[in-house]
Amino acid sequence: MTIVVTGATGNVGGKVLRRLLAAGHPVRALTRDPARAELPAGVDVVRADLGLPDTLPDALDGADAVFLMALGHNKRTHDANLVGVARKSGVERVVQLSTLGVEEVDEEHDTPLGRWHREAERALTESGLAWTILRPNGFMTQALGWAAAVREQGVVRSPVADLPEALIDPEDIAEVAVRALTEPGHEGRAYALTGPEALTTREQVAVLGAALGRELRFEQISLEDHHALLAARYGAATADGVVKALRTVLESGDDFRGRLFPDLERVLGRPGRDFRAWALAHAGHFA
Ligand SMILES: NC(=O)c1ccc[n+]([C@@H]2O[C@H](COP(=O)([O-])OP(=O)(O)OC[C@H]3O[C@@H](n4cnc5c(N)ncnc54)[C@H](OP(=O)(O)O)[C@@H]3O)[C@@H](O)[C@H]2O)c1
Repeated sequence: MTIVVTGATGNVGGKVLRRLLAAGHPVRALTRDPARAELPAGVDVVRADLGLPDTLPDALDGADAVFLMALGHNKRTHDANLVGVARKSGVERVVQLSTLGVEEVDEEHDTPLGRWHREAERALTESGLAWTILRPNGFMTQALGWAAAVREQGVVRSPVADLPEALIDPEDIAEVAVRALTEPGHEGRAYALTGPEALTTREQVAVLGAALGRELRFEQISLEDHHALLAARYGAATADGVVKALRTVLESGDDFRGRLFPDLERVLGRPGRDFRAWALAHAGHFA
């Protein structure tokens, strides 16, 4: 059973790939540039681009299952491209990375971020393929964006101070993905995935400081400055989507991000890893 992993050189996909390999499953990594991919030995690496459908049939040839992720504003077209080719390639199941906002924001109050993911989900759920959708809350790994300022100035800058978020460790998302890719019983399910606690940004900074053994300063920045930081990291379209979503939450005061959902514990039989454990495991990035 060959499992194709998209985003295999990235955050969640990389973790999915390593977990599948460790469990002895034949895996194929999809990347735009195999020469730069630096993937572990034993991985079948294939060059393909989710934005170029003609590159996908070879990547999916003989595959049984796919882990599907795509980035922000590309998500609608990229997921639809892969699903379209998967239907003709004999792929049986697709496990799709989506976002919690899809479940929690109704279409009337939708933001670009919610819309992109909602449309990507529809492409899959209407395809006739067996599907599982993973809808995670914000990733703990977003805190890696603070690393340079923490190392150099002992400060964390964010536009939100007191909004609780039940952040999730991407390792937990990967673990759920591997279950859905390799076990029966997850077809037709959409899992809302959160961590075990909701922390405000100030609280996250305090937990991170305690893990590092340093007192860190928190500095609130404007949404405009936040947009500039995001745009430099993810591109302007994704920054627009994220900041629009944040503005909606700050204006309405109603936020799903602080809610805890039971799905992760139901699938894994244990609670998600908390931010303290994540911070201790990643302390090297901040030191
Ligand atoms: N960040 C959050 O807090 C959050 C919260 C909820 C949901 N999400 C979801 O998670 C996604 C981000 O996941 P992540 O952190 O794992 O992403 P990531 O690490 O930033 O993803 C990078 C990967 O995307 C691949 N990629 C980019 N463009 C591609 C293309 N045209 N064709 C094929 N592959 C392409 C890259 O592959 P190559 O460079 O090797 O080609 C690389 O492996 C978001 O888009 C969203 O859907 C995120």
